[in-house]
Formats: sequence, structure tokens, C-alpha cells
Amino acid sequence: MKMKLKRNLCLVALSVGLTSIVTQAQDPVYKLEVGVNKPGAPIQSTMYGIFFEDINFGADGGLYAELIKNRSFEFENPLGGWVPFGKVSIETKDPCFDKNPHYARLAYTKEITGTGLDNEGFKGIGVKAGEKYNFSLYGRTQEKYPVKVRINLVNPDNDVFETKEFEISGKDWKKVQVTLEPRVTVAKSRLRITMITPGVIDVEHVSLFPAKTFNNRPNGMREDLAQALKELKPGVFRFPGGCIVEGTTIATRYQWKNTVGPVENRPININRWNYTFPYKKFPDYYQSYGLGFFEYFQLSEDIGAEPLPVLNCGLSCQFENKGMDQHIPVNKLEPYVQDALDLVEFANGDPSTKWGKLRSDMGHPAPFNLKMIAIGNEQWGSLYPERLEVFVKALREKHPEIKIVGSSGPGSEGADFDYLWPEMKRLKVDLVDEHFYRSPEWFLSGAARYDSYDRNGPKVFAGEYACHTNNKENNFYSALCEAAFMTGFERNADVVHLCTYAPLFAHVDAWQWRPDLIWFDNLSCVRTPNYYVQQLYGQNAGTDVIPLTLEGKPLTGQHDLYATAAIDKRDHTLIIKIANTSITHRNVRLNLSGLTGKIYKGTVTSLHSPDLESKNTLENPNQIVPVTSPIEIQGSELGVSIRPLSFVVYRITL
Ligand code: AHR
Repeated sequence: MKMKLKRNLCLVALSVGLTSIVTQAQDPVYKLEVGVNKPGAPIQSTMYGIFFEDINFGADGGLYAELIKNRSFEFENPLGGWVPFGKVSIETKDPCFDKNPHYARLAYTKEITGTGLDNEGFKGIGVKAGEKYNFSLYGRTQEKYPVKVRINLVNPDNDVFETKEFEISGKDWKKVQVTLEPRVTVAKSRLRITMITPGVIDVEHVSLFPAKTFNNRPNGMREDLAQALKELKPGVFRFPGGCIVEGTTIATRYQWKNTVGPVENRPININRWNYTFPYKKFPDYYQSYGLGFFEYFQLSEDIGAEPLPVLNCGLSCQFENKGMDQHIPVNKLEPYVQDALDLVEFANGDPSTKWGKLRSDMGHPAPFNLKMIAIGNEQWGSLYPERLEVFVKALREKHPEIKIVGSSGPGSEGADFDYLWPEMKRLKVDLVDEHFYRSPEWFLSGAARYDSYDRNGPKVFAGEYACHTNNKENNFYSALCEAAFMTGFERNADVVHLCTYAPLFAHVDAWQWRPDLIWFDNLSCVRTPNYYVQQLYGQNAGTDVIPLTLEGKPLTGQHDLYATAAIDKRDHTLIIKIANTSITHRNVRLNLSGLTGKIYKGTVTSLHSPDLESKNTLENPNQIVPVTSPIEIQGSELGVSIRPLSFVVYRITL
């Protein structure tokens, strides 16, 4: 199909401009019946969501706003990310933070370059003119007098463009803070710490944070990236992954308890994407857990999404570990199950409980109102249900109010998938997580996937999906196929309750996996066409599905058209989504049964590109963006000519 489409690009470029309400007389008109007054299944408010994993430098160096890499000197090479000069050593005696015991000791020297440390940030440190940046470190000295220190921001030509000085005094660890106010914007600067008076100092947890974070949260998120999440209007927020949950080994699995409490004392973990792809190694990729479970719950609240944490089920990555030595025997799962129970307490428990108190001490006395939890990521075989069963039993007993999400494994079909679905039914989980990173052809034919699903079993959570074209880029072609495929989610809202595209973020200079929803560098981000598809669904979710048929059947690719319709009972709106994957326009007559003869007003929003390979880039971020125009209809019929290669959303106020 792709080749055929490419050959006809010129033809496409010549075709009709905007979607119009005038049909093209020479072509067939497809008559679609829309049962406006026949509301069917409710669409869950959680339906369209986001999936976050610390991959592609999505957390440290990405969403988490910290600008210093290896701020606690805890990488395997404690000076990773730092360039020391003069007399610098790494020590561990009498540390400031027991779980991050390494710190740097600096001794003054009269050498011309002096003694200090230079941090490279995450592929550089991005700072913007006129913005404020909070620098801090924990320091101490054995000297009886204060020792003076200078910090500089340095550009790639080694020119200093911002300077501040402060003192370190006393033999006990103390936090020192100063504010930097650069007058220039630099995408790849470095932070330099230099001793300027004699003495010996110890420094630990060196941090540089933009004063402005999303919603002004301390230890918060990068504003532009979090804002992009909010504008998706996500209903659910899955976190922290992905393979990260499993760990390459049990020791490196994600452990939520390591990610809460004072940020300075959260033990770091190697990121499994550090070494996963031998041809794309990132030895500087670790998880600081600065974006931990408190920050995650708070961000969920800030962007209006229901949190959906995923926890390890006692299995490390099965792909990496064929034998049992890296998995936990079923009779030794107790601490893992306890982690799940404690997480519910951390999220929802009264401040008088152990974990509820920690949440309250961290600044959120009110519960986070957690309603769902997923156990296990891409597991397979009997190892998984054997373990999941233990979790299900304990969670049902202690927290019957929490919905449980099980997994159907890494594949969207096949033997493992066929084995796990019945197992999930047997265990009576509430939802089953399905993953599909598949071709455009698969996505288009998958628009009908859920039409024949069992209506009485667990519901579906399409927890990771993305259309992978040959070059795996976030081009318009992949976005259009996702738009077409997602009509099947919505039409089957009685079965599909949640869906989250994956992965979410990628740093342009440090990615391991593509495609991804949002790309960024140190200063800005770009929303892909795939992002806009997600946004069009999220912002036009509706509350109830209504029937939309062509000759009595749902529109799942006939004449290259894919469609779904809903109403939003909250604001009395009719919402119709149609993807036209053809290279020619399609004339459609919508029979909106239930509408009267009056004039109805609304909008049509169109996402279109004549070039399937086209993309949004940091340099040209608005190549493919939704365009909205008003429409007006009289009576119960709407004739439209749908532009080739487009995804259109009609919103009509009833
Ligand atoms: O989204 C990237 C990876 O794809 C996830 O970590 C994993 O669950 C899947 O294989």
C-alpha cells in the first residue's frame, strides 16, 4: 500500500483542499448511518492515556527537570559526567546520605586552573536567557574558616556566561544555594565549580534546577514537556514502564520504595537501556529516581490522569533470563506482594499509616485516590500466572477496591498470547495489557480487532502500541494508521477501557528506541503527528459510543475509510472521527438519525499531509498540525468530502 500511495503523491497534492461540506459530484457517495440518539457503551474517562518509561533519557535529562548528571557521584564510575581538575578525590567516609554514600573531596591548589569539577549535563545543559536556575549542593569543610567557591556556566567555546560565588563552612554537611540568571540562551552549556580560596571541601548532591517547573512543583518537571502531556488530556498515566519494571536482573528491577522520601537519599539504579542495544550503548544512563512515585502521583493529579502503576511480579526480564536463577520462586514472593500492598497505602492510606505518613510528610496529606495497579510487564509462560495469582489473592483480600491489570505478554497474538488470555480470565483480573509495535498493514487491518472480542471477560488495556514503518520514524503515515486503528478502540469501548501509546519521550541526542510520541532537545520539544492523533482522541473522547455503520456494518477499512462516533453527554456534543487512508477524497453522507430540522453548529478538525513520509522536527515543528474550522449543518444530513490521507474529527453541538 505504501508504494502505491507514494506513487500517487502528486495526485494527492492536486486534490481538494480542506475537508468541505460539499460533496464531489463525480465520485460515489458512501452513506453512513449514525445513531445519534442510540447511546451504547460508555467510554471510560480513562480511555486515552499516556505511558511513561525512563527510556531515551525520558526521565533524567528529560521530563525530570534536574540539569546535573550524576549529581550524587554514584555512577559505577563516580566521576561519570564530571571532569575533575586539580586535586579531586571520591570519598565515602561519614557521608551526607547513607544510600548515596559517595561524595567529592576538593583540595585547593595554586595551579593556574585551580581545583574543581565540571559537569556536562545530559548532552549539555540547556539554559534560557532571562530564566532563573537554582544551584545547590551539600558541603562541609574541616577548615576553621569558610572556603570560597565559584560556579560558572560555560558555553561550548569555553566562554563563561554566568558566575556566582558562595562559601562552604563548618564541619557538618550543610546545603548551600545560589540562583543563576543567564543573560543568554545556550543549549549545551556546562556547569563548573572552582575553589577560589585555600582549604579542603567535601561536596555532595550538586543540583541545578530551573526555578520554573511545571505547576511550580519543587523537584518538579520540565515545563514544556509536562505541558505537552497535559494538552493530550490523558485519562490514565501508566508508570514506570516497560522493561524498566522487570530489570535485567532482579537486583536492577524497579523498586518504588527506593524512589520516595528525600530526593538526596534515593539510591540510584543503572538504567537497563544503558546497555540493552549493543549498537546503541549509553554508559551514562542511570536512574536517579528524582522522578519517583511521589512525583508521579502528583504529576498524574496535575495533568488530570488516573495513575496506573506497574509493579514487578517477581520475574526479571524473561527475554534476558532463560533460567530460574534471576526469578523469584513462588513461595518467596511475600516482599514483592507487600510492595504492592504498601504502594496502595502510600497512595491512598491515612497519614496515620506508615506509608500514608510518608506521602503526607512529602507534602500530600490527601490521598492520591489510586484505583488500579498492574502486576508484571511483558511476561510469558506459566511462570507469570503462577506468580500473578499470589498477588491477585492478596490484593483482592486487602484492597478489593483496586482494579488489577494482568499481561498478555509481548506479542499481540500467537502461542504466548493465546495461553495468557485464558489464564487472565481464570485469575479474574480486571484488565489485560496488550502490546503491539506492528506494521502499518497490521494497524489498518487491526481496526476490526476488538469487534469480535469476548464481552464477558476482562477488559483490554492496550498498554503499549505504535505503528512501526520501515524506517521507524514518526511520520504522517504511522500516525494515520494509528488514527484508523484507534477507531476500533473507541467503537469497542465496552471492551477496551484504556490505551497508551509507547514510548512517550525521546531526547534527539540520546535515544535508544523509536518511534516516540514527543521528541526534545535541551531547550524545546516537538509534537509528532502521532502526538496529534492521540490528542485528537484525548480531547474528543466523548462519554458514550453511538453506532456508525455503512450498509449495516462498522466502518473498518471499506473504501479505505475507518470511523467511530460518540456523544459527549456533558456538553451535548456529537463527535465523529473518520480516517481516510485513500489517496483520493471520499464523499460521505452522514445520516444523523435523531437530529431535527434546526441548524447545528460545530467544528471540523483535520490532520493531514500529502506526504506520508513527512514529519515534524525541532526545526520545523508545525509541518503537520490539526487545523480546525467551523461547520454548520441543517437537519439530519451532513454531506462531506473527506480529504485524502486525513484524519478528521467533527464536533457538533446538539
Ligand atoms: O516501549 C519500549 C519497550 O517495549 C518497553 O519497555 C517494553 O515493555 C516493550 O518491549
